[in-house]
Amino acid sequence: MSVQVLHVTGARPNFPKAAPVVRALREHGVDQRLVHTGQHYDEQMCDVFFRQLGLPEPDVNLGVGSGSHAVQTGTIMAGLESLLSQEQPRLVVVYGDVNSTLAAALVAAKLRIPFAHVEAGLRSFNRAMPEEINRLVTDRLAEILFATSPDAVAHLASEGVAADRIHFVGNPMIDTLMVNLDRLDAVRIRAALRLPEQYLVATLHRPSNVDDAGDAAELAKAVHASADLLPVVMPVHPRGRASLAASGMFDHPRVRVVDPMGYVEFLSLVRGAAAVITDSGGVQEETTVLGIPCLTLRPDTERPVTITHGTNQLVDRAGLAVSVRAALDRKQRAPRTPPLWDGRAGERIADVIADFL
Ligand code: UD1
Ligand code: UDP
Repeated sequence: MSVQVLHVTGARPNFPKAAPVVRALREHGVDQRLVHTGQHYDEQMCDVFFRQLGLPEPDVNLGVGSGSHAVQTGTIMAGLESLLSQEQPRLVVVYGDVNSTLAAALVAAKLRIPFAHVEAGLRSFNRAMPEEINRLVTDRLAEILFATSPDAVAHLASEGVAADRIHFVGNPMIDTLMVNLDRLDAVRIRAALRLPEQYLVATLHRPSNVDDAGDAAELAKAVHASADLLPVVMPVHPRGRASLAASGMFDHPRVRVVDPMGYVEFLSLVRGAAAVITDSGGVQEETTVLGIPCLTLRPDTERPVTITHGTNQLVDRAGLAVSVRAALDRKQRAPRTPPLWDGRAGERIADVIADFL
C-alpha cells in the first residue's frame, strides 16, 4: 500500500513548522514519511533541529546541498521525481517558501499527486525576493492551502483560490515555540556566553543585506552603531559569513560572533534579549509571541501581523541605531498574539489532512 503522507523539508525554517504537523498526524495514526532534501546540511543548520524538535530521522535524505537557484531547485526536482513516482503518496506536504518547497510543489503537481502548503498566502509583494517567487508558484499549484494569518487568506482569495481549499489554522512555528517554552533558559545561555544582563541579538541572512559588498558594509555600520549602545550577539548564517567578515562586521569589540545556534539555545538567547535585529521571517514571528522588540532590516514584510499585533518594526540600515535606542527607551506594550497563534495549528492541520485522506 502506498504511504499516506510524505513531508518534504529542506532548510532551517522548515523544521519548526513541520515538527507539530508530524506529531499531530502521528496521533491520528497516519502513515507518514519524511524526506529531507539536504538544502541545508551543516550540523547547526539541520541535524540539531531534528534532535531538539523531536522530528523523526528523515526516511530519505536527497543530499542536494548548495547551488544556484536553478541548480539547487532542479537537483531537488530530479531526486523527488523518482522518489514520488515510486512512493505514490496520497498527499505531499510542503512548508514555507524555500527552494525545496518550490521544487516539491512542481514535482508533485506534474505527477498529479495532490500537495498541501503549510504557510500559504504570505506575500511581501517584492519579487526581488526569491521566496516571493517560490510562494506564488507553490500556492498556485497547491490542493490544500494552510494559512497562518487573515491577510494570507485574503491574498489567496484575491488570487482566485477557491475558499474550500483555504484553511486558516494558525501558525505551526508558534506551536513549536510554545512546546519548547520551558526549555528556553535565558539565564543559562547568558552565563554560557558571559553576556551582561542587557544585550542585543542579531541574525541576518537575506541576500538583499549580505550578498553585495556595499550592502554588507552599510549593514556593518548599522550594527556597529547599535553595538555602541549594547553588546550584540550575532549567530552568523553561513550565507553571509564571508561577506560580513570582509565588511568588517566582526571587528567591533562589542559584536560577538558565534556559529548558527541550535533552536533551544537561539530562542533562549532571544528570550533574554533587550531587542532583536533581524531579517529572518521566523524570528519576526517568534519575537512577536515572546514580546521582545524586533527591528527588521527590510523594506517590507510578508508577515504584517507581527507589526499590527506584535513587536515588529521595519527599519532601514541608516535608521537602525536610532530605532534600537527608541525601542530600548519605550515601555513595551504587551503584545497581542495574532489570531490562532495558540499552539494548536499542527492539530488543526492534521484534522484537515485526516479528512482529506
Ligand atoms: C534559504 C532560503 C531562505 C531562508 C533561509 C533560511 C531559498 C531560496 N532561500 O536561504 O528563504 O530564509 O534558507 O536559513 O531557499 N550553506 C552552508 N551550510 C548549510 C547551508 C547553506 O554553508 O548547511 C551556505 C552555502 O554557501 C550556500 C549558502 O549558505 O551556498 C546559501 O544557502 P541556500 O540554501 O542556497 O540559501 P539560504 O541563503 O540558506
Ligand atoms: N534560528 C535558530 N538558530 C539561529 C538562527 C535562527 O534556531 O542561529 C531559528 C529561528 O528561531 C527560527 C528559524 O531558525 O525558528 C528561522 O530560520 P531562518 O531565520 O534561517 O529562516 P527564515 O525564517 O528567514 O526563512
